[in-house]
Formats: sequence, structure tokens, C-alpha cells
Amino acid sequence: MNANILKNISHGVYVIGVIDENGRKCGCIVDALMQVTVTPLGVEVCTNKKSYTTRCIRNAREFTVSILPKHAAPALIANFGYQSAAAADKWENVEHDLIDGIPVVKNSLGSFKVKVFHELELSTHILWSCEVVDTCEGTGNEEPMTYRYYQTDLVEATQKAFASGLSGQSMSASGDSYTCGVCGYHYDGDTPFEELPDDWVCPQCGMSKECFVKD
Ligand SMILES: Cc1cc2nc3c(=O)[nH]c(=O)nc-3n(C[C@H](O)[C@H](O)[C@H](O)COP(=O)(O)O)c2cc1C
Repeated sequence: MNANILKNISHGVYVIGVIDENGRKCGCIVDALMQVTVTPLGVEVCTNKKSYTTRCIRNAREFTVSILPKHAAPALIANFGYQSAAAADKWENVEHDLIDGIPVVKNSLGSFKVKVFHELELSTHILWSCEVVDTCEGTGNEEPMTYRYYQTDLVEATQKAFASGLSGQSMSASGDSYTCGVCGYHYDGDTPFEELPDDWVCPQCGMSKECFVKD
């Protein structure tokens, strides 16, 4: 058997938001999530039994899902995916909105709230069968992050972000923004700044890419 073959199954990267029994905002990153029915709108989500998120979902029976864009900051993934809400306030430095009091990531591609109607115990995980009961519009104009993209392009940056401590780092879902250090022009184009060609110049003063600084 070669488990790597299953890495070709395409799926995204999402942030779960959930409230714990003390009213704290919690949650984690998941990739094990997919829409399975249309009427009613149904999704299946799988969480590890040992995670704090599982404990919260078991109690609350409802949670939110934020769909991450491809260029979400690695620190955002480290924040929700590399530490436990049992010991950290994961939402403290993350810009968020609320759906019925449950947090969703601002500038995600969209988010929704689900109610759990069935749970199935697997060996290491719980499979939650859920119905979507509310939705919240997002920016919607960028590609979603895929789990494969995370694996191939983001693991190193995410580990680095976590190793250097998360406080003070950008946790935006919309990626980093840049300003021209010469004329103050703020870049907010659809193409992520890092992906602009090397010969791209500031449309206001004509200076090169190197003159831009991260906000
Ligand atoms: C890209 C990525 C995908 C992940 N997918 C899942 C998943 O599908 N299910 C899950 O239970 N944990 C998944 N995790 C791990 C949890 O996010 C991680 O264990 C988290 O620290 C749990 O936090 P908690 O204890 O606050 O719930 C993933 C982590 C990353 C970085």
C-alpha cells in the first residue's frame, strides 16, 4: 500500500470556530471536510478525538467553518493548527466576525455555521455529519487553499512562523499587504504581491519591487 496516492484527492484547508463550555472562542484547522448533500446542505467533518475542538463540538453540537484562500498567512495556519486552544487564545490576534456568537475568520472566501445531527466514532477520530444552517459572504475572489498546496508550499513557512512565536505576526486570511517605501503607494491588487514579476514597478513612482515594505 502507498498512502501517498491519497494525497491526490483534492480538498481544502478550513478554520473551525467553536465555543467551549466556559464560553471561550476555540477551534482548529481541518482539511478533512467535504460537502456531501445539497438538499439539505450537508457537510462531513472529521476531527481527532484528542483535540480540544472535538471536546467543544461534542458539547456545543454546532460550529463554524471559514474557507481559507490560497494566500492566507502561514502564521494563521500555525495558530489554529499547531497548538491547542486548551492552552492558547487562538482568536485573540485574528480579525474575525461572529455568526450567532461563534467566530469566523475575516477575509476568508466565505464561512458558514453548521449543526451536528450525527456523530460516528472512528478509531482515532470522530466523523461529524452536519447541516449548514447559516452562511456569511467572504471575499470570494481568490483561489481556495488546497491541502496539497499547504503540503508542497507552506509547511516550511508555517513551521517557521510557529517557531518564531506567533505574537506580532500577521494572521490575516487575505495575505500580507505591501506599501512603496518611496511614495507610500499601497498595493492591493488581486495578484499576491510576492507573485508579481521581478520587473514589476510601482505604478505611482516607478520604483522597483524591492522598494516595497510589508505593512
Ligand atoms: C493543514 C492542517 C490540516 C489539519 N487537518 C485536521 C483535520 O482534518 N482534523 C483534525 O482533527 N485535525 C487537523 N489538523 C490538526 C489540528 O488543527 C491540530 O491538532 C490543532 O492543534 C488542534 O487544536 P485544538 O486542540 O485546539 O482543537 C490539521 C492541521 C493542519 C496544519
